[in-house]
Amino acid sequence: MEEAVRNAPLFLALDEEASVALRASMVEIDFTRGQVVFAEGDPGDRLYVIVDGKIKLGTTSNDGRESLLAVLGPGEMFGELSLFDPGPRTATATALTETTLLGLGHDALGPWLTGRPGVAQALLKALAQRLRRTNENLSDLVFSDVPGRVAKALVELKEKFGEKRSDGFYVEHDLTQEELAQLVGASRETVNKALADFAQREWIKLEPRAVLLLDLERLTRRSR
Ligand code: CMP
Repeated sequence: MEEAVRNAPLFLALDEEASVALRASMVEIDFTRGQVVFAEGDPGDRLYVIVDGKIKLGTTSNDGRESLLAVLGPGEMFGELSLFDPGPRTATATALTETTLLGLGHDALGPWLTGRPGVAQALLKALAQRLRRTNENLSDLVFSDVPGRVAKALVELKEKFGEKRSDGFYVEHDLTQEELAQLVGASRETVNKALADFAQREWIKLEPRAVLLLDLERLTRRSR
């Protein structure tokens, strides 16, 4: 089985045999870049685990502005909120690259949770981590300036998608500058200015849908 799946919260507490059985009961679906998995407000009937690729989770305001809640990668799970608290999807999920997902229907999940406190515990832990991160983002929105938030977003994207190279960490985030701005919660102009400033200081090198972090230490310091 793919390592990312094996390490997904849903699978962590299962032994090999149970993992294989769960994997077999899930449906594998492929998406191309830009394809919508589900939209905010849709009725939710399954949760997803990312096997390969990247998913952005976003919401749209009444006047049409978009905001990104998170960018998820292999092994991460989404679509569980409307399962634990039945109701419409709280965000739109869109593939940022070619992406392979495993889907598990809500009714199929029930039996995996009953009698397996370990699985429920792992899911609770994933939810708690998400709440922790969301709270942190909320206080950053209130207390940090835009360059600080941009630095933090870059460091977080590096944690998820960074690849060590001789000259730094190469982070292929697959986000446009507009999407990066939506993730940071600021205008594209202000975010571009912060990025240009970091590039000029040689902390980063910008590339289309990717960034090379040349000075992680300074960037991390700027993110605090
Ligand atoms: P659901 O509401 O079914 O569909 C949208 C999904 O986005 C939701 O489940 C969660 O899995 C995910 N999601 C919602 N809010 C956040 C957040 N703040 N951070 C990360 N993921 C989120």
